[in-house]
Amino acid sequence: MQAPNILSAEFEKSPYPMYEDIRENYPLFFHEATNSYVISRYEDVERAFKDPAFSSRHAEAQFEPVYGRTMVQMDGREHATNRNLVIQALGSYKLNEKFLPLIEENAKELLSQFRSRGEVELVEEFTSIYPLNVIRTILGLPKEDMPFLKEWCIAIGNFLSNLSQNSDVTAAGLQSSQNFQAYLAPIIQQKKQNPEDDLLSSLCMAEIDGIKLTDAEITSLAMLLFGAGGETTDKALALMFRNLIIHREQLQKVIADRSLIEKAFTETLRYSSPIQWLMRLTLEDVQMTGGTIPANSMVIGLIAAANRDPRKYSDADKFNIFRQDLDMNRAFSGAANHLAFGGGKHFCIGTKLAREEVIIATNLLLDNLPGMQFINDELPEEYGFFARGLKKLLIQFTPVF
Ligand code: HEM
Repeated sequence: MQAPNILSAEFEKSPYPMYEDIRENYPLFFHEATNSYVISRYEDVERAFKDPAFSSRHAEAQFEPVYGRTMVQMDGREHATNRNLVIQALGSYKLNEKFLPLIEENAKELLSQFRSRGEVELVEEFTSIYPLNVIRTILGLPKEDMPFLKEWCIAIGNFLSNLSQNSDVTAAGLQSSQNFQAYLAPIIQQKKQNPEDDLLSSLCMAEIDGIKLTDAEITSLAMLLFGAGGETTDKALALMFRNLIIHREQLQKVIADRSLIEKAFTETLRYSSPIQWLMRLTLEDVQMTGGTIPANSMVIGLIAAANRDPRKYSDADKFNIFRQDLDMNRAFSGAANHLAFGGGKHFCIGTKLAREEVIIATNLLLDNLPGMQFINDELPEEYGFFARGLKKLLIQFTPVF
């Protein structure tokens, strides 16, 4: 008996039954193709995020070629300093006063393109654009640049998910990163000379230990924010609508009581985690369920398997926005009791922004696409290993004029 191959076509098509097999029968195994130890039980994956025996230095190879050196690959003090700087810069922006109205305006504009049509491919026309638009708006970049920014972000995202090392994907990702850097260079100079009320200007002014960030560091941070905040929220939003349309009785409850949007979003993060795996590097021998991981080993933590661990959640394979074992009050904080935002020192810094943008978009979509259902009752297909989302989300609805 062998553990399922987590890079097979069969796995990509339907990973959840295999996650169950792995979690129950192979809680620790070595996966040759990725040269990594794989862990999948909630307590083990959570520990890999929280125990300093697991480093984020693995990300040097995965992220640095396209982003340059950023917080995702740092440990210890260097990580804390860089991370706090971005948190402060993000926090200094009055999200509510200035940016939430702009975010809503962006969403309405996208919606106006299809709300009277009666059908839409929601990924192409909404979710793949909206979260990137949010990051672009907050950074203070021009709206008309969105088409090529989106193109570069997709190529860079594909580079990060390119576990099979396809050379065309690698080349496109690297080229897009270069294009992105060349694009940002003059804008950064301009923001330094004439700072505006936006996050990029704030990063230009920010200091670590009295020293300003270099242009390369500012560029890396801006690209990281697009990468970390775009594809993730895009996939989460589409998956949430898919989950709700399948579970119509829960969709009806959310339509009637909009305070349930947050629950639907959180349960989607658990049930259909948009980031399915995270990697780490062991700094010492570590004892886990099923054996010992030697020092200096790559580790894949299967977030999506951990988030359906029956030791943690009852009826873990059921989508249930009313479940009692997922704590909604903590779901967007470092104390979250799901692992979709990671955990420990690298816990996602964009959770509250993601929550606000999902609430705004969901309210608008529910108001404007009444009676939504899948076209021809066709279930949308999921794809992806590392990041997982929907290829398409074709829905029909009663047009609003
Ligand atoms: C549903 C949406 C999102 C999901 C599922 C998600 C998921 C994650 C995960 C799993 C991590 C941990 C990475 C690790 O430990 O290596 C992370 C980190 C991060 N996220 Fe998010 N994220 C989301 C939205 C956002 C948004 C909107 C932003 C933009 C501000 C953002 C910015 C970041 C950054 C900068 C990090 C790195 C933190 C660090 O290394 O200390 N994320 N995210």
